[in-house]
Amino acid sequence: MATAGLFDPIHIKHVEIPNRIALAPMNVTYSTQDGYATQQDMAHLARRAQGGFGLIITGAVIATKLAAPFVYHRNLYLYDESFVPGLNMMVQACHNFGAKIFCQLSVGFGRQGHALDGRPSPAPSRIPLERSPERTPKGIIDYMIRAPGVLAETLHDPVPREMTIEEIKDEVYQYAMACRKCVYAGFDGIEIHAPHGYLEHQFLSPRSNKRTDMYGGSLENRMRFLLEVTQMALMAVGNAVPVGIRMSAQEHMPDGITIDEVKIVVKRLEDLGVAYLQLSDGSYEALDYMFPGSIKHVEEHLLREAKEIKSVLKIPIIVPGVNDRAIAEKAIAEGVADMISLGRGALADPDWPNKVKAGKKVTECKRDCMCLIGSLVGLSPRCTVNPELGYEQYDPDLFPKKRVGPTVPSALTKLPPPPPPPHI
Ligand SMILES: Cc1cc2nc3c(=O)[nH]c(=O)nc-3n(C[C@H](O)[C@H](O)[C@H](O)COP(=O)(O)O)c2cc1C
Repeated sequence: MATAGLFDPIHIKHVEIPNRIALAPMNVTYSTQDGYATQQDMAHLARRAQGGFGLIITGAVIATKLAAPFVYHRNLYLYDESFVPGLNMMVQACHNFGAKIFCQLSVGFGRQGHALDGRPSPAPSRIPLERSPERTPKGIIDYMIRAPGVLAETLHDPVPREMTIEEIKDEVYQYAMACRKCVYAGFDGIEIHAPHGYLEHQFLSPRSNKRTDMYGGSLENRMRFLLEVTQMALMAVGNAVPVGIRMSAQEHMPDGITIDEVKIVVKRLEDLGVAYLQLSDGSYEALDYMFPGSIKHVEEHLLREAKEIKSVLKIPIIVPGVNDRAIAEKAIAEGVADMISLGRGALADPDWPNKVKAGKKVTECKRDCMCLIGSLVGLSPRCTVNPELGYEQYDPDLFPKKRVGPTVPSALTKLPPPPPPPHI
């Protein structure tokens, strides 16, 4: 049987994606302060679609009003209809170049959240983060040495507050309603954002979840929140669009969730009807795994973890950070990954897929994390090797000149009735 290649199309449920290369979700903090999409949000994604990325996945979009104040500086929001038109413009800008676009939807940052007014963020338990320089990418540490105090100002980690059961139930419902708004906005799919130590991950982890009620303790209890979010999301959109999930393969911290538990969780999610898994690794406490420092690290960790997790799944799996054609082709041919996604590599070179396809040299990402430092200090990402990053909005070719696609998204006709609100 012939094996799949990087430039072969793939189906995620009924959605055909033209190749196996996705833009990894990145919150590029181009939105307005109150969470609306800007022209730069559109142009940033359109530029990557123009460069050949078959699937564009948005950065985390905050689904609920409770979670909205607790982000780093700025984020896209989708907790009411007013956010839909801006997101629809992003969708059209990507469709214009033939790419599919999924919305990564977040139920919140939990203890990794930072309110501008210092309020404690809602989380499973009152356990603050513990970051250490040893677990932080070298580029960020070098910057902290050069600009002492600057990052410390934005990286303080306040003690969160424990969410009530009523809040948990309401978040599940609000999240499902935001999923329906993704369909209104015309997205081709939804990705539940559950990696990197964010809220769902915090519930899963015995390190950050010390609850004694039905949402804490056993794995069954710790996964209850994520299963409820997923179940309600699937119920809310029916067959209108595929719903995937992003998860960290493991936490890489003492008492953190292990790959053995993650395998049980992803199998349960697949049984519920989740359409694909995009893998990642680590959390804010294990940034060295969240932002691999070399392709060797990706081969030794993410790709190995992908192989192990894939052994229990039938759904497609996307592996990030594989910015090397030979390694990506091998992973796909051997069935370790069905798609790859590029984060920092796509900031460094938006034409990565087209150049690789044409056998041209790509501009290599230095993995120095300068993109992250930009966002951490309240700017937007800057890149050492790509001065165009952040200025895409000044290229008129990136904007559609007329409506792209039908007057209203055809998936709307497939939406089931909305789920009932929780009894609170
Ligand atoms: C500026 C920036 C913002 C990011 N925001 C998100 C996000 O919103 N959601 C998410 O799941 N991952 C986010 N990530 C992580 C990336 O999706 C990716 O997993 C990580 O950068 C490792 O892949 P890479 O080596 O290709 O960069 C972000 C990364 C960067 C650099």
